[in-house]
Amino acid sequence: MTRTPTAHSAPLAELVSAVRDVVRLERQPAEAAELVASRIEPFLAQPNLLPDQYREGDPDRYKQHIVHAEEDGSFSVVALVWQPGQETPVHDHVAWCVTGVYEGAETEQQYELRGEGDTTRLVPVTEVVNSAGTACGFAPPGDIHLVRNAADSTVISIHVYGADIRKLSTSVRRRYHLPIADA
Ligand SMILES: [Fe+2]
Repeated sequence: MTRTPTAHSAPLAELVSAVRDVVRLERQPAEAAELVASRIEPFLAQPNLLPDQYREGDPDRYKQHIVHAEEDGSFSVVALVWQPGQETPVHDHVAWCVTGVYEGAETEQQYELRGEGDTTRLVPVTEVVNSAGTACGFAPPGDIHLVRNAADSTVISIHVYGADIRKLSTSVRRRYHLPIADA
């Protein structure tokens, strides 16, 4: 028995099923993320993947639509809608995470935590621009990042988390408010 908030398109139901197949393999988090990314990528090219209610944005902040939360809490699927300039705080996650871009291009800035005590700071390390049709996965630790729409049109992405997003309300482990500095 699974919980779904709304009727899904056939390809969206298949995407959820494909994620479930991988999660049931019970691989290590980094491998699970990589496998889920490869399995969802073909769905990102499906023009009828997302029903209209998952494409609605919010002028004030990026909008999260919960597409699916697995009954046993093992994974969640969300659709995120980003207007130009909208971004997350710098954060990391409680579990593995997969990002698949459906429309537009999503920019991810990755950081490393350096120093200690009063000198602890965030150092930007890699900026990745993920374009429509591509998916990538990662797992904590070392997953401190910020995601933004740096383009001038709406971005829609599918994120999959190895956690129960309904119970936690978010897959974010921690938000970082540290100074950002060069190495
Ligand atoms: Fe994230």
